[in-house]
Parts: sequence; structure tokens; C-alpha cells
Amino acid sequence: MFGRGDNQTIGFGYKLVSSDENGKTLTASLSSLSLIQSSSVFGPDIQNLNLVASFETSNRLRIRVTDSDNERWEIPEEIIPRQSQPSSPSPNPSPFPSPSQSSSHRSLLETNSHLQLKQGILLSDPTSDLVFNLHNTTPFSFSVSRQSTGEVLFDTSPNASDTLVFKDQYIQLSSALPKDRSSLYGLGEHTKKTFKLQYNDQFTLWNADIASASLNNNLYGSHPFFLDVRPGGVSHGVLLMNSNGMDIVYSGDRITYKIIGGIIDLYVFAGPQPDAVTDQYTQLIGRPAPMPDWAFGFHQCRYGYKDVSDLETVVAGYANASIPLEVMWTDIDHMDAYKIFTLDPVNFPQDRMKTFVDNLHQNDQKFVVIVDPGVGINNSYGTYTRGLEADIFIKRDGVPYMGQVWPGNVHFPDFSNPKTQAYWTNEIKLFRDDLLEVDGLWLDMNEISNFITSQPTPNSSLDTPPYKINNQGGNLNARTVPATALHFGNRTEYNVHNLYGLLESKATHEALTQVIGERPFILTRSTFVSSGKYAAHWTGDNRASWEDLAYTIPAILNFGLFGIPMVGADICGFSGNTNEELCQRWIQLGAFYPFARDHSDKNSIRQELYLWDSVAKSARKVLGLRYRLLPYFYTLMMEANKNGTPIARPLFFSFPQDNQTYEINSQFLLGKGVLISPVLTQGAVSVEAYFPAGNWFDIFNQSNWVNGTTGRTVTLDAPRDHINVHVREGSIIPMQGEGNSTKAVRKTPFELLVAVSSNEPMTGQVFLDDGKGMEMGGKGGKWSLVRFYGSMSGDKHVSIRSEVENGGFALSQKSVINKVTLMGLERGYDYEVMTPFVNTSSNKKAAIRPIVKTRLDKNLNF
Ligand code: NOJ
Repeated sequence: MFGRGDNQTIGFGYKLVSSDENGKTLTASLSSLSLIQSSSVFGPDIQNLNLVASFETSNRLRIRVTDSDNERWEIPEEIIPRQSQPSSPSPNPSPFPSPSQSSSHRSLLETNSHLQLKQGILLSDPTSDLVFNLHNTTPFSFSVSRQSTGEVLFDTSPNASDTLVFKDQYIQLSSALPKDRSSLYGLGEHTKKTFKLQYNDQFTLWNADIASASLNNNLYGSHPFFLDVRPGGVSHGVLLMNSNGMDIVYSGDRITYKIIGGIIDLYVFAGPQPDAVTDQYTQLIGRPAPMPDWAFGFHQCRYGYKDVSDLETVVAGYANASIPLEVMWTDIDHMDAYKIFTLDPVNFPQDRMKTFVDNLHQNDQKFVVIVDPGVGINNSYGTYTRGLEADIFIKRDGVPYMGQVWPGNVHFPDFSNPKTQAYWTNEIKLFRDDLLEVDGLWLDMNEISNFITSQPTPNSSLDTPPYKINNQGGNLNARTVPATALHFGNRTEYNVHNLYGLLESKATHEALTQVIGERPFILTRSTFVSSGKYAAHWTGDNRASWEDLAYTIPAILNFGLFGIPMVGADICGFSGNTNEELCQRWIQLGAFYPFARDHSDKNSIRQELYLWDSVAKSARKVLGLRYRLLPYFYTLMMEANKNGTPIARPLFFSFPQDNQTYEINSQFLLGKGVLISPVLTQGAVSVEAYFPAGNWFDIFNQSNWVNGTTGRTVTLDAPRDHINVHVREGSIIPMQGEGNSTKAVRKTPFELLVAVSSNEPMTGQVFLDDGKGMEMGGKGGKWSLVRFYGSMSGDKHVSIRSEVENGGFALSQKSVINKVTLMGLERGYDYEVMTPFVNTSSNKKAAIRPIVKTRLDKNLNF
């Protein structure tokens, strides 16, 4: 049974006492119906509630339900500021326009004419498509609908026992959903076989160190956000801004939140396209942090590197195999007795580590180390004594709480204490100045993971609340900091538990910004709503298995929805032994993860990519392509930073009207038009891949293409050394030349890969900056954005032109395009490439279909 008390009446709901509508806000007083019928499961009902519905922007409706008489815990603005950042102009319904677009909207209206709004008090805004409706029923309920179509998006009208319940330690909020019309995505972090949520899925949100190799369990992060795609691709998003532990039950025709504290703070984002929802969502929670350019190179890590020579051998192994290695990492092995910010004097002595890191830097490579939150208790250890002195550790019973992690007994810094920032910045600065010039930090174990479970505090309902969420690890306190521990301002762990990874990422981001003075790179395991503002994420401890390889796609797509677009999974698998074929298939897929890192457990065999000839060969091929696509990845990072659009996207982001794309778990898009169709099964040498309507060109063999007037599934050859990557017609992809480091690639001229379309305008863009400034595309900053447009005219003429924003940077870098490849050009067509910036043009007779590869006679400036 999910939670307790499912067969008992747990609440009688509320009645509307009064309401007041004032412009964009509707306020209502509610009172409990349990005055007439008593209810005690999970404690007494809160008697009086206050509901406020308001249009915060034209595409964002907020509904707050709180206790009218007493203050309750809610996520403070200082932790997640909710001030609005400007939204980008509404994206196109689909980047690839479809002729059926307008008719599908019409049919939605027709099919929905039965969905009439219930009688009640309405709140609408002339600029918004959303309508809020307060139903004056007994018990009261509310709903949110779309004005344009009448479609009901969220409706709390109870079915049976799922009325609104509001108790001190149990809140239940349930909405009807139109089964079979609604496709849901999100609600993480969980490992799922499918990207689309399945009927009767259950989700527990309580951050825990539970291996991501386990299906359906609560994992490291909490994201109570979902995207709801309705027929025709009309999409909206729903966020429950609440940090308390919760279970979410999705039956198909209802979604029910069972939350053990906080308030109801619900946001509905109007969309109506999937990318409009991620734009509106990240407008509220914060845009994804820009990543330094080098973060898009390939990373190598392992738990269990023995010593400096081991590290040197790995770096040399990559160089000898001509596989690009951008970033070398160490896990906890480099530390002295697992104390953070130290070096093991025997195996990783400082002088040798310094030489090692200096050599990496001379080679345009980077170095990242792990940092765990637990500070080992040891009076001769500065990080500990300074922490004690500053009094910044989480407390229980008035003294720093003692847990156990790798170093043995530890205290945990309280990142919500304002004093902790200075402490943490200083520790990072000391480590970097005195020991090792690291380029980025990896935050692990920050759920918080604890190797012990502390006894509950007697008579406290926090350690053992009346409603038990389905925490896979056991009770709330299992292997973490106990719920009665206190953070700054007497905030209980019970309330702030899920925020720890976010707060640590935020403090580390601030610290690295101050200490390095450049755009920070931080990888965090534990996340919450808005973690993407500060850090990248990897999906944790997967297994070296074919199943786990496949699960990485839903996991990565989810984090794109959560506003954490820089995400990857441990390539070749973390726990258990990988094997040659699995590792080969994994690097083929992993080369297209936004964050590409090979990482393994100390108990498993080594899996550096050069260890098998076949894997090394595939790695050269796919990482070679990744590096040539670096300007494309980097431009997608800029788009994510500006609009929240994920880097790795579900197919329905580009083809929202194609409902076949709603079910896809094994393919994804990079940006709007690069389709990745990996092999995910052992022994397979072909792959069933779905292609939405249009021409799709094979990026490796550009004279191969798949075409279809409607979407279709195609069986593609996928021999062991091959992954299928296709470019959709209409795409203009910026590329650069080959290189073994991101810096080397940056020095090469640009190229454009144009997938010619006779039906649709061709578009693409490239963003240029120094790769390390704090902002991407900030005011007055040194950057350029070049937008490319292509069109085909009836007189057999293709023309590609560009528009430059802020051209100074491109000029100063002497950026040039020296090659334009047009895929899919018809016989007898010619083409020209023009840039209004310098007004250079080149006209050439086109060769025969389908490809024209032309090295331009003259370099083109942007
Ligand atoms: C758990 C992390 O998930 C894993 O990546 C790491 O190797 C181990 N901790 C050891 O630090």
C-alpha cells in the first residue's frame, strides 16, 4: 500500500466561506467541514485556510493555500527567489512548421466543446489563456482551464476520498486528469523505463543516496514538476513548490500529492508548446547556469584510481589512442583519510599532483575533484576546526549533529546559515591556492548521505510523522540527517532536507565565482527545483547493464524539463563490470549526452575508452563528431541559459503535433533537429528508429537520408561501430574542424551543415564568446550571435544568409566560415551564401542530388 490510511477517510474537505476578486487576484477563506464530522487520521484538520489565486504573468497562474491562523514552513525567497526574469518571445509552435498546424488547433476546440467550465467564481486575465475557477460546491474545489479551448488542465473536484486535506503533517491535493488525452512527463528524480509517466506510477520525493540502478525509487533529487502534453501537442506545466517529503500517485485519471508539510503553492504554466513551458518554468525558478566551453569536452573519472601514476597512465592512454580527453577527475581517492580539501601524502602527494595538474593545463586539459559535505571530526584538521569555530554545522540537541561518512565521524555544514558562505569560500580558496589548482568541483553525497541512522527524538512527530512516505531507504531518518536536526533559524531538517544539495550547489557556485573569477563548473548529485541555476547533474550510480544504458535517455530528458540541461549518466556504467560491446554502445550514446563522462566504481573493472580497440575506434568516431559539433552544443547551452530550452530534447519539442513522439524512450533530439537513435540492446546491429515527417540526413554518410511525408519507423543499419545520427531538413548546424581539445577546435574555421528543405525555411544559429565569462550574452559583453537563414526559391536557387547580433566579438576573433555543406540539393539547383555583415557572396553551380559539398574559394566572415 502506498502510504497509510488509504481505506480510511482522512479528510472531509473544506467549504468556501467568502471570496474576493480584485483584478488579477482572487482570495478565498475556507473552513474545514470536519467541524461537523470529526476526522483524526494523520491528525486534526487545520480549521481555516486561505486561498489566493493570482496571475503572476500572462502565462503563469499561482494558487496558494495556507493556514489562515498560523504560519507554516514554506520555501523562503532567499533560497529560491521567485522574481520574474524576462520571458523570451513565445517560441514557434513548432520549429518545423507543419501544414496541419491550424487545423489541429481547430479540432481541439471542436472535440473539447463538451468540456464546459463549472459554475463558480472565475478569475481570468485578458492577456492569459488560463482561467481559474473556484467551485462553490461542498466540499469546495478549484480548477484551471484553457480559455481558448475549454480544456480543463487541473481540477480538484473530488472523486471519492481525494478531497483536499490540510493537516499539520499531511496535505493531500488531488486533480482529475483526462485519461488518454493527457501525457505526463517529469516528477523526478526516479529511474524509469519510460519517459512518459505510466498509469499507476507512484513517485516519492525525498532525497536519498539510493542507487539509480534501482527502478522507481526515490533518488538523489526532488522535482515536483510535470509537463502535461495534450492532443495536438498543446502543453502546460505544473509545479508544486514544496520542499517537504511527499508521495505522488498518478493513476491516469488523477494525480494526487500526499505531502507531509509545508503549504500548497501551485504554479500552472500556460505553454502552449512544450518549449514555452520550459521557458515559463525556468523564468520562475531561474535559468540554467551557463557552462564553461570545456565542460562540453569528454571527461574521465573512476572511483579507485590508486595514485598519481595511475592518473598519468590514464591521461597518456587517451593521448596515445588519439581519443580526446578534456577533463580528468579524481574521486575520494586523492584525499588524506577521506578528509575533504586534502591530499593523500603517500599516493597523491602535493608536489606530484601539482605537476600532474600543471601538465594537464599545459595540454589544454582540466582537472575536477570530488567534495563531499561531511567534514571529518579531527582536531588537527583545519576544515573541521574552522567550521567548529565559525559554528556553521547542522545541529541536533544544541550540538553539531554527528553522522558518519567516508572519513568516519563527520559534521555537515549548514549551507542555509549566512556565515557558511565565507567559511566554504575560504576552504575552497585555501585548497586551490595552497594545494591544487582545480578547475571545477563535484558535489557528491549531498542528499545528505549518512552511513548511520540516528535514533528518533522521543515524542517528536518529525522523526516519525503520522503519514509515512514511501522512502525506499526506510523511515525519514534512514541514512541521512535526522528530521529533528536544526538548520539556521531553527529550521528543521524535516522541512529543509530536500534543499541541501541545492544550497550546497549555490554556495559552491558563489565560492568558485569568487575564487576562480570565471564561469564555474559544478557537478552535483542532489538537486531540487532551481539547482540548474548553479550546477550540472549526473544521474548517479547506474549499473553497467543494457537496461541501465536505456534508462539514461528518460533520465536525461527529465532533467532537461527540470531546468538542468547539463546532464549525463556514467558512460559504460558505474557499478558491476562493463564489457566491450556495452561500453562501445555506451560511448556512442554518451558522446551525445550534454555532459559526457566515463565513471566507474572501484569494485568494477577498468573502463577507460582506450582499453578495447573497438571501443577506442568508436570513441574516436563519435567524440570526433561531438567535438566538431561543439559550436552547436555551446549554442544550445546559450539557448538553455536564455530560454530554459533543454539541450537534449524529447522529439515532441520539435514535433508537438505528432503524437507518436509522445511515447518515445529510446531516441532524443539535440537541439531542434539532430536526432540520436542509439542501439540499446546486446547483439543488435540494427535499430528501429522513429522519424517524424520530413527528410532526415545521415550526418556520417550525407548521401543517405530517410524521408517521409508522415512520421514513420525505419529499421536502420547499426553495425557495431555505428550510431545513427540524422539531421532534419531545415536545420543549419554550425560546426568546426577537428581537434583533440575544445581549445584546439575553437581555433579552427567554422563550417555550416545545411539540410536543405524545399518546404520550410532553413534556420540555425551560432553563439560565440570566450567560453568562460560569467554570463552568456550579457549586456555589453563580448559575444556575437549569428543567425542563419536559408530559403529555396522556385528558380532553383538556394540562398543562405546571416544576421549578426553584436558582431564585434566575431570580428575580433577573425571568425570565418570556410565550408558550407548542403545536404539534399536537387539536380540543377545552384546556391549562394551571403553574409550581410561583410557582404561576401559565393555562387556556384550545384552538383547532383543529394549532396553538395563545397569548400568555399574564399573564407566568409560572419
Ligand atoms: C557515490 C557517487 O555516486 C559515486 O559516483 C562515487 O564514485 C562514490 N560516491 C564514491 O565517492
